[in-house]
Amino acid sequence: MCGIVGVLGDHEVAPLLVEALKRLEYRGYDSAGIATVYKSRLDRRRAVGKLVNLSDVLVHNPLPGKAGIGHTRWATHGAATEGNAHPHSCGPVTVVHNGIIENFRELREKLAAHGITPSSETDTETVAMLTAHHMAQGLQPREAVMATVAALHGAFALLFLFEGEEDLMIAARKGSPLAIGHGKGEMYVGSDAIALAPMTDQVTYLEEGDIAFVSRAGVEIIDAAHNRANRDIVRIEPGTTLIDKAGHKHFMTKEIFEQPTVVAEALGRYAPAGLPSFPDRLDFTKITRVVMVACGTGYYSCLTAKYWFEQIAGLPCEVDVASEFRYREPPVTPGTLALFVSQSGETADTLAALRYMKEKADIVAGLVNVGTSSIAREADIALAILAGVEVSVASTKAYTNQLTILALLALHAGRQRGVLTEAQCRGHVEDMKRLPDLMRQTLTLEGKIAKIAETLAPATSILFLGRGVMYPTALEAALKLKELSYIHAEAYASGELKHGPIALIDRSLPVVVFAPHDRLFEKTVSNMQEVLARHGQVTLITDAEGARAASEGTVAQLVLPAASELCAPILHALPAQLIAYHAAMAKGTDIDQPRNLAKSVTVE
Ligand code: F6R
Repeated sequence: MCGIVGVLGDHEVAPLLVEALKRLEYRGYDSAGIATVYKSRLDRRRAVGKLVNLSDVLVHNPLPGKAGIGHTRWATHGAATEGNAHPHSCGPVTVVHNGIIENFRELREKLAAHGITPSSETDTETVAMLTAHHMAQGLQPREAVMATVAALHGAFALLFLFEGEEDLMIAARKGSPLAIGHGKGEMYVGSDAIALAPMTDQVTYLEEGDIAFVSRAGVEIIDAAHNRANRDIVRIEPGTTLIDKAGHKHFMTKEIFEQPTVVAEALGRYAPAGLPSFPDRLDFTKITRVVMVACGTGYYSCLTAKYWFEQIAGLPCEVDVASEFRYREPPVTPGTLALFVSQSGETADTLAALRYMKEKADIVAGLVNVGTSSIAREADIALAILAGVEVSVASTKAYTNQLTILALLALHAGRQRGVLTEAQCRGHVEDMKRLPDLMRQTLTLEGKIAKIAETLAPATSILFLGRGVMYPTALEAALKLKELSYIHAEAYASGELKHGPIALIDRSLPVVVFAPHDRLFEKTVSNMQEVLARHGQVTLITDAEGARAASEGTVAQLVLPAASELCAPILHALPAQLIAYHAAMAKGTDIDQPRNLAKSVTVE
């Protein structure tokens, strides 16, 4: 979602701010802006749309100054207009903000009584107005910000700049991450270390409730109780902030093609000696139930894992989307492992669900790709997804690594609970170790998949079908297609077809069926026959044996290498991703940053 950056520099900051904002583009945004303080005066430039529009504005109307803040905005309160773009200013204060101020209407009403009225529709402007009001009453910037932050409800990260203060930025964190970067005679603030990577690898992460007073000489941090706080400076590993397409046209294809490598890494970490290996605290002899919570693609990896936990480990497993789970107030029985799956580790609903379970579950674990994220820090155990930085808004390699690790976790549970023998467990891991190779073979089919995608691209609606573990795969395929190509897509468990959606089938409806030759193959094929009998245009994604048995009548077949039941959903994710990618290519959409989407959904 929104991105924040700030620089107290030794040189002109406008180009640095725009460059840093570029590195935050992956988070998703629809307007951008920067502000500087120069000769004691605050000034700002803002533009709707991509950063190139802001750069154009700056060419015609440069913004001098060595102290500045910048922002990419993903619209929540108010449309994507220049007036709603950040920074928001009031009197001697300008501010950028990630998150949501829940009580902004109430604060606005109070400020109106003092004659302070907004000029935008945003919640953020209220923060500038309130701080300016405190300063008008005689408070210095530091005290004014502390008073403002204390009055705000919601989840936010804020960065302030002040008139007449060329050596001061104030940052506040409550719910949305912020990193302070340390340079030589320069200091930086960013919503993540990726933004700051070209400037520094020395970073301090703010904790919940922290307020940081940043000058070129360093940073002073106070905690939520306003006591001085010591926060470590950590060195950021270069690989974790690398943003590079490595010769690919899009980050998405680069990330799709990285999957064999990152899956191998996950297998090496979580099954180093032929058996699954997880922290001792994940003791499945004591766990009687697994509750998994996530959003979007992460939710589909949890849905797949539910089949594995139940079938392989005999362990009851419940899965829910975080936005529902958090308000459902589900009863929690003793022996519950609560597992939260999130690429970013910052998804607001998943984090709230984690906090709900923190007091109730026996163990709260996070499966996250960002080791410094809120979910990683607040969980009792954080398991790394090990996918490397994922820049494309549509998740690919994080998904297949989530699946790989969850499959190993289910095997680990099966082994510890005595449902699997050691030999059976080793056999499954052995199968999984073949995955990187099978994935490489599957990726060689890209040309064929592109052709299939091109024939699907003109459709206005597409149906995906699958059974068992292939049902979440179908759901994920539909999600990927929707978000990338904007084609309406739906997924059904194929057995559910005749309970309603079969009414949709006619000659114009493309139907993609995921049907590896597994124990449910015949059942899925029967459902596929029901589609064919009604002239549905079926693309069958299967393996050689499946293709031999069931290709008749289908308009296209994609034959993947044969894979075990544990590996099949991981392998079938690849054509799902490539169909969405190539359909999007055919439609000319913005593949790495689809409209309206954000990489890290930090608001409810
Ligand atoms: C889809 C996608 C989203 C995310 C969802 C959760 O391609 O990426 O559906 O999976 O927003 O995000 P995380 O995993 O960061 O919690």
